[in-house]
Amino acid sequence: MKMAAGRRKIAVIGAGNVGATCAFVLAQKNLGDVVLLDIHEGFARGKALDMSQNANVLNYDGAITGTSSYEDIAGADVVVVTSGFPRQPGMTREDLIGKNADIVTQVGTGIKEHAPESVVIVVTNPLDLMTYHMQKVTGFPAERVIGQAGVLDSARMAHFIALEIGCAEEDVSPMVLGGHGDTMVPLPRYTTVGGIPITQLMDQDTIAAISARTAGGGGEIVKLLERGSAFYAPGSAAAIMAESVLNDRKRLLPASCLLTGQYGLDDVYIGVPCIIGARGVERMFELELTEEELSSLQGSGEFYKSQLSDLLGY
Ligand code: LAC
Repeated sequence: MKMAAGRRKIAVIGAGNVGATCAFVLAQKNLGDVVLLDIHEGFARGKALDMSQNANVLNYDGAITGTSSYEDIAGADVVVVTSGFPRQPGMTREDLIGKNADIVTQVGTGIKEHAPESVVIVVTNPLDLMTYHMQKVTGFPAERVIGQAGVLDSARMAHFIALEIGCAEEDVSPMVLGGHGDTMVPLPRYTTVGGIPITQLMDQDTIAAISARTAGGGGEIVKLLERGSAFYAPGSAAAIMAESVLNDRKRLLPASCLLTGQYGLDDVYIGVPCIIGARGVERMFELELTEEELSSLQGSGEFYKSQLSDLLGY
């Protein structure tokens, strides 16, 4: 990877709410130069200029530029893909597949041509399907195409746990696996607060309610907003994954990865715990699951496999 001379470069594709939030978090973390790309050039340039004028206030160093040209992402170390339509009330993430698959094809083609060495972090919904599609379009090794969902879904679970227990958010270590949709799999047995499994801190009904609210976490916000979907947490979650790549932090995070037999699933992207470093997904973990947990995860994987073949022709 090109990380030697000068500042690192991060491209964020899509200057909508998720992309702009991601760029803003990246800038504040002083991770490198940020290029914000959108088909509407003025939209990308305007947001980049607005953020640039904030550099003195928030004390960040990297340049933030806006563009509509893929040539400007050349040499990017990380590309975060947020382009696509968000959900509206009453829609599932899967309802977005037709429109967003075409967008991912276009974006993936641009990345393949202009940032062939990059690690790609996909945020576009339906997440696990679009990440699979992106890997096929770019032809990049699977470890360099990762889907953002587990960090967001886990953060949602952490928030509800912190509220319930009355503890600091930071002390919650949550674990949510599976697809980023109705089939997601919160794992209370692997979720701890200060090292204590939540199964020792709350009763089963409370845990079940928190798991259900986590799985519906995005939908709850879509309903409240009435137009569009969540963006602060999704954009920040993608930035945290980018940071782990750029600084080779090797954080252990749940993320959508291409499975090749793990958990009895093959040739499907789904959320699993992994280590994310400079090379992308450096290692995946296969947790010991109960029969019920495993069948939930496999059900989630099988659902996306059938969607890949029925809706995308894979
Ligand atoms: C959510 C969308 C971004 O979960 O998928 O909020």
